[in-house]
Amino acid sequence: MKKFETKYGYFTENGNEYVIKTYRTPKPWINVITNGNYGLVISQTGGGFSWLEHSEFNRLNRWHQDLVKDDWGKYFYFKNKKTSEVFSPTWAPVKNSPELFECRYGFGYAQFIAEYKEVNIKLTVFVPIGEELEIWNFEVINKSNEQIELGVYSFFEWCLGSSADHHREFHKTFIETEFDNSLNAMLATKRLWEIPLGNRGHWNIEYPYLGFISSDRTITDYDGDKESFIGQYGSVEKPVGVFSESLSKKIGKWNDSIGTVKVDLSIPANQKDVFSFFIGIKKDKKQINKSLKKFKNQDHIKKALSDVKVFWQDMFSTLEINTPDEAMNLMVNKWLRYQAIAGRLWARTAYYQQSGAYGFRDQLQDSLVFLPINPELTEKQIRLHARHQFQDGTVLHWWHPLTETGLPTKMTDDLLWLPFLILNYIDETANYKILDIKEPYYNNKNKIDTLFNHSVNAIERVLKRMSKRGLPLIGAGDWNDGLSAVGLDMKGESIWLAEFFYLILNRFAEVCEKTKKTKLAKRYKQKAEEVKKAFNKYAWDGRWFYRATKDNGDKIGSSKNREGKIYLNSQTWSVISGITDKSKSSKAMDAVTKHLLKKNGCLLLSPAYTKPDQLIGYLSRYAPGRRENGGVYTHAATWAIWAYALLKENNLAFQAYKNLCPVYNGLNPDEYVAEPFVTPGNIDGPDSPNYGMAGWTWYTGSANWFQKIIVDWILGIRATADGLIIDPCIPDDWNNFSITRLFRNTKYNIRVFNQAAKNPRFHYMIMDGKRINENLIKPLKRLEVTVDVFLA
Ligand code: GLC
Repeated sequence: MKKFETKYGYFTENGNEYVIKTYRTPKPWINVITNGNYGLVISQTGGGFSWLEHSEFNRLNRWHQDLVKDDWGKYFYFKNKKTSEVFSPTWAPVKNSPELFECRYGFGYAQFIAEYKEVNIKLTVFVPIGEELEIWNFEVINKSNEQIELGVYSFFEWCLGSSADHHREFHKTFIETEFDNSLNAMLATKRLWEIPLGNRGHWNIEYPYLGFISSDRTITDYDGDKESFIGQYGSVEKPVGVFSESLSKKIGKWNDSIGTVKVDLSIPANQKDVFSFFIGIKKDKKQINKSLKKFKNQDHIKKALSDVKVFWQDMFSTLEINTPDEAMNLMVNKWLRYQAIAGRLWARTAYYQQSGAYGFRDQLQDSLVFLPINPELTEKQIRLHARHQFQDGTVLHWWHPLTETGLPTKMTDDLLWLPFLILNYIDETANYKILDIKEPYYNNKNKIDTLFNHSVNAIERVLKRMSKRGLPLIGAGDWNDGLSAVGLDMKGESIWLAEFFYLILNRFAEVCEKTKKTKLAKRYKQKAEEVKKAFNKYAWDGRWFYRATKDNGDKIGSSKNREGKIYLNSQTWSVISGITDKSKSSKAMDAVTKHLLKKNGCLLLSPAYTKPDQLIGYLSRYAPGRRENGGVYTHAATWAIWAYALLKENNLAFQAYKNLCPVYNGLNPDEYVAEPFVTPGNIDGPDSPNYGMAGWTWYTGSANWFQKIIVDWILGIRATADGLIIDPCIPDDWNNFSITRLFRNTKYNIRVFNQAAKNPRFHYMIMDGKRINENLIKPLKRLEVTVDVFLA
């Protein structure tokens, strides 16, 4: 059965694929396919790019960001030699209308089915596990009653190294191609890698890889030169090379280098032919040869694809929900986890944003996604980020792997996500030993310190950055990057950071107690109280909490402001942090419901800024209603669900979830425009003429948070150091749901029954035939358990 079908596509019955029915989606809809080392991004028209290890520093092919034309990719042309008709299985670049078109996105692969003039092509693109290459596997059926002769041509422009390769005339002079007959491959390398590494000065380092394109069919012709293949003033739609008798065979150092190779097919009437192209980046010819040999055999290709599918299903298997909300099931069981891992943690790139870097706070938060899968992966991420902290507790706001270069920051929250993640890791594992793990500092590799001390350094640094009133300073921004100028003189204060910091201080104090660091525990409890006191004295604006003060003392997020009167984060985190009494935080959330909860989720602020404000920063420079300036910033909008759930506002929590959910928003595709199977970074708010339009899909911290908050706070099954809490906060009209979750090596099968009418809460549960009135399951020493939970 097709699920959530629109004129553009649908989810398959088991949710393992999203099927795009037409190449004319409102915006490029992409898949991010990676094994964690090698990867590619591909759109439904065949646009996109590939990389090894770093999606910005080591790109295989040129790609330029153009969400309208989407005309950069690794392309294939199929030419019927008799009729000279040409078409592309991905629609682009040739763009003649296929009689059949379908693009299916699965976990770790994309599949295109296209038929043109009785030639039916099924193309599967994927990246095998542990390989630095992608396979383009073609199954071609000749549906006609005559034998056909086809020429198949590849085309892409070699980038090899840093992107975007906009200064091509400079870069092309370093690229060198060759054709290797014994490998049956075109190879390409670059004699300069434009990244700051090496010790012999600027722009003087070797690119240590070979890009390649090969096939399991004999390559009969090739062209390494854009000019001869496309033709001067020519176009990728109709490259002269494809229409010539033969290709130029130009390779070497003097071209504008491309990767065009040709194979010939001869398919008898009503027969099928199966073959592959291999594209990748490897260290040397030997390694290329090894992989090419391996995949010569179609059985190995099939096996490699099925391994990819199994790999992802294993990732999904440790947490599975079955609720009356089909969209929730689809997102939580598969797509959000895939997005968070493939898109955010591994690729760190997509169509709206290319990065390759690690954001200190970003990928730490993303790595929460690993907790129910394998907490060791979260631990690995924590350690990686700890190594990017300075000895004084501050951190790099982001850094590039490979070069290890990054941006020291005056943003004042980044560093606190380190203890935040450690606290979450302890909730999942109760493994306090993580605190003893040692990592060096970014600016002193000889100083190897425990993660406990790394956390203490972070906390102590924030304690040194408090205002006279006892509130934390905002510096160059807190969680909200766009508040980039509010506190540059280190005078402005952050109300949200006060809340976040309060939570960290309190919870870290508990950890100190637990690990017998009594003095510190006392200190942090006391500091938490001080922050709380200052907060409750100064943060209230009358009907909600304002957001920050500028260096000059003016408030933002106050009812007295003309624009940006109310911000979301200071309301939601007033609940999440527990910094204030419930009467205030409830009022604050009432204001959220009234002013910010809209049809696509909660706005980050309202009303939007229409004029740039130098003392706020670039947030106020975005178009009104877009992104952080009065749009739904989905990352923060997920926290509203959490806050409503904490206030036991079951139905509002559900509404905040449902309004945000891409599957539902995607049912209105011409307004929403984005992929319905991943979260977008933002959705335009009512102050934009494009109210309801989403953008910045895939590359957003909302994927992990959306999943976590649905599971932890709507379904209410969450890990704490003491055990698994059962605290559902489901809507009135759900009768039951079930969830299986791995927790400390025990598989919990939890079935929840709702016998109540309104705002159901936990009543009791039955485990091993015994009734338990407490909503905590202490860790069990067994492989599997079934628990029935009753709500009332
Ligand atoms: C971007 C940043 C993230 C920040 C968010 C809100 O997504 O990567 O770190 O929290 O914007 O400004």
